[in-house]
Amino acid sequence: MKKILVLSGSLRKDSFNSRLANYISKNLPSGYEATSFDLGQIPLYNSDIDGENSPTGVVAFRDALKDADGVFWTSPEYNYAIPGVVKNAIDWASRPMMPKNSIVGKPMNAVVATMSPTNGSRALADIKRIWNNCGGYSVMTYDTVLQAAHTRFIDDNGTDSLEPMAKTTVDMCIANLVRAIELNAGATPLANWEAFIASMK
Ligand SMILES: Cc1cc2nc3c(=O)[nH]c(=O)nc-3n(C[C@H](O)[C@H](O)[C@H](O)COP(=O)(O)O)c2cc1C
Repeated sequence: MKKILVLSGSLRKDSFNSRLANYISKNLPSGYEATSFDLGQIPLYNSDIDGENSPTGVVAFRDALKDADGVFWTSPEYNYAIPGVVKNAIDWASRPMMPKNSIVGKPMNAVVATMSPTNGSRALADIKRIWNNCGGYSVMTYDTVLQAAHTRFIDDNGTDSLEPMAKTTVDMCIANLVRAIELNAGATPLANWEAFIASMK
């Protein structure tokens, strides 16, 4: 069974991104299971406490990433960028330096859910750019922002179903991530980083 770590970049209780993460976790294809992690366990990044005795939440987050075959981020956009919660988690995951971090070679896809009818694409571009900068592999096609997220869920009974158009696009994002995992797309950035390190010796 392959694992996809499904993460929500919002800590609030009634978060649309957490509901979306719930939908994604329940709609993976056969042969895949979802894992999750509460980013609220991760303190603010401080290199003084990073190393052999990193905080428990950080160690657990890095382990969850390492254990996953792929990652699916759902995230809000805050002030035309990714929220600090998301950037902070990625900063911790980006250490120790490449190629030893828990992001290198890890396929990732993301959907931004926003209540805005027009925004969200900047946060989506951010997260994919930053993930690639850490040596990960971001699925760069079929970018999806779930705008007016408060109108997209068709029930409130805990199922977190999506209206048909949103379902089609989110399902496509899941399929694209699964394809990247199956094709071992993360091997390219990993090999590129190994070649870079070798060239420095
Ligand atoms: C500090 C802050 C800044 C925000 N900035 C943006 C923004 O730049 N673009 C946007 O689309 N929505 C913005 N929003 C609105 C969020 O999209 C909205 O609150 C959304 O529901 C948050 O996601 P959540 O439901 O998963 O918590 C902002 C919200 C907050 C609290």
